[in-house]
Parts: sequence; C-alpha cells; structure tokens
Amino acid sequence: MVNTKKFIAKAIEEIQTSAGSEKVVMALSGGVDSSVCAALAARAIGDNLIPIYIDTGLMRKGETERIRQVFSSISLDVVQAEDEFLGALKGIVDPEAKRKAVGERFIRVFEREAKKKGAKCLLQGTIYPDIIESQGGIKSHHNVGGMPTKMEFTKVIEPIRDLYKDEVREVAGALCLPKEIQHRMPFPGPGLSVRVIGEATKEKIAVVREANWIVEDELVEKYRPWQCFAALLGLGTGVKGDNRIHGWIVAVRAVHSRDAMTAEPVNIPFDHLMKIGSRITADIPSVARVVYDVTAKPPATIEYE
Ligand code: XMP
Repeated sequence: MVNTKKFIAKAIEEIQTSAGSEKVVMALSGGVDSSVCAALAARAIGDNLIPIYIDTGLMRKGETERIRQVFSSISLDVVQAEDEFLGALKGIVDPEAKRKAVGERFIRVFEREAKKKGAKCLLQGTIYPDIIESQGGIKSHHNVGGMPTKMEFTKVIEPIRDLYKDEVREVAGALCLPKEIQHRMPFPGPGLSVRVIGEATKEKIAVVREANWIVEDELVEKYRPWQCFAALLGLGTGVKGDNRIHGWIVAVRAVHSRDAMTAEPVNIPFDHLMKIGSRITADIPSVARVVYDVTAKPPATIEYE
C-alpha cells in the first residue's frame, strides 16, 4: 500500500525541481504507468509538458485511435514511425537485441521531436520491477537497460520508479484517471515485437495483432486476467480445405498475477478454448494451429521472449 496523497505531493515537487523552467517530453502510451506520469507532470509543470504518442507499428489493434480518443482533451502529438521501428528490427532474432533496438529507436525519435520543441528533459514511466529486472540481467526494459548509453537529453525524470504496478494503479485512482486506464493490462514497451519469436516482420506483427485482438475480446471482460494475449511461436503444418499448409502456430496466454513477479494460468473452460482456437484460425487464414499455455511463472515468464 502506498500513501497516495503523500506520494503525489512528493512526485509533483520532484518533477518541478528536476524540470525547472525547461520543457519536458514524454511518451504517452495510454497504459497506466505513462498516464500516471502524464497526470503528475501536467499538475507539476502544466504546458511545459509535451506528451508524445509514437505509433511504432508494434501496437495493438486500434490502439492509436483509442489513445487519440482517451486523451482528446490534451494536445497530444502522434508520431508515425512504423517504418523506422520495423527497419531497426530487421534481421534481429535475439530478444535482448530486439529490446535494445526498440529502446534506441524510442530515444532517437524522442530526441528528434524534443529538438523541434526545444525540450531537453525526458520523463519516463519506469517502475520498480523494470529496474530490478534490467539490473538483475533478467531482461532489459526498453526504458532502463534497453536505452542507448549516449543521449541528447540533459535530464531523465522517473517519478514512479519506486512503485510496483499495483501501487501505480492506486495512484491512478487517487488522480481520478478513467477506470479503463487504471485497470488496463500491462503491455510491454517493445510491443508486439516480443510477442513474435525471432525476427519481427510486418507480416508476423499483423498476424499476432489480429490474434491478440481476438484473445482480448474473448478473455478480458470474462476473466479479468492480469494479462492475456497471443504470441506467434513459429511455423507448423496444418490442413486447410484440401491442402496441407505451412501455417503459423499461435499461443494463447492468460495469467492472473499480483505484481508480475509470479503468475498462474487462468483456468479457461475447454469449450471456450476451442471457440478461441476456431475463431483465430477462421479469421486469420495463415494460422494453422492454436495452443493454450498452462505454465505458471516460474518456471515460465509471462511473455515469450
Ligand atoms: P515476464 O515476461 O518477464 O514479464 O514475466 C513480466 C511483466 O513485464 C512485462 N514486460 C515488459 N514490459 N518492457 C516492458 O515495459 C519489456 O521489455 C517487457 N517485457 C515484459 C510483461 O508484459 C509482464 O507484465
């Protein structure tokens, strides 16, 4: 439990002290971490905050439109950078290298946008587990270990770096953010690129995006999981019509968790799993097989990479 009133006052003071009279850019992804940071920074420095949404091409279906709608009351810059991100990921198969490529691209896009606006400070929604995992060598989060060592920003401000996810949600409640944001499932910074095993191509991202949309549509409301999503495992054989095909294998993952350090699979009735499998293979012709992941964390992680 966090004392939200105390935390909010302290965070606002910290942002004001760090930013001074400088303009500050930040990535607003629409998740709870970045939304809390934006709300704190808006209170702290008002118009000196420049929120930017980067459409990396690695986001979920309809995400860019959703962000525009949710944040219609603030002036949000939407930067289209799909080609840039996919270009940076070309030929990369190693998960850590993918995270670093995405992290580096984020910073370069931000530096470019910040230059246009005359901003020297970067505000990030880094939370405590991101730091522990990056330092512990578990995985580089795009906003911690995945960041390039050389940056043009003079200051990086991380007002929620001491909080766990459930504490961030408490602060979101105290800041009166919409329920949809407060309870939004975590989504990794490198986006769908880490939900495709191996190289993240435009085609694979499109398949996993569509499958992910179906999984969320079927599971979010009904089971209220910590996270549920689809991942693309690779190619396998299948039969469609009279033809033996080589099609994608999609894994469905749904877990309950308190803080993502441990997790257990959601107990989904078999009939519902069959329905999800049929829907994915019917709607996405290139998918030949759908599997449900029954592994807890540990030994598995929540994501596949
Ligand atoms: P794992 O897969 O390690 O994930 O069990 C734990 C939590 O972290 C999220 N995750 C990430 N978040 N950048 C992020 O911002 C990343 O690179 C990243 N990788 C995993 C994951 O979705 C889960 O909530």
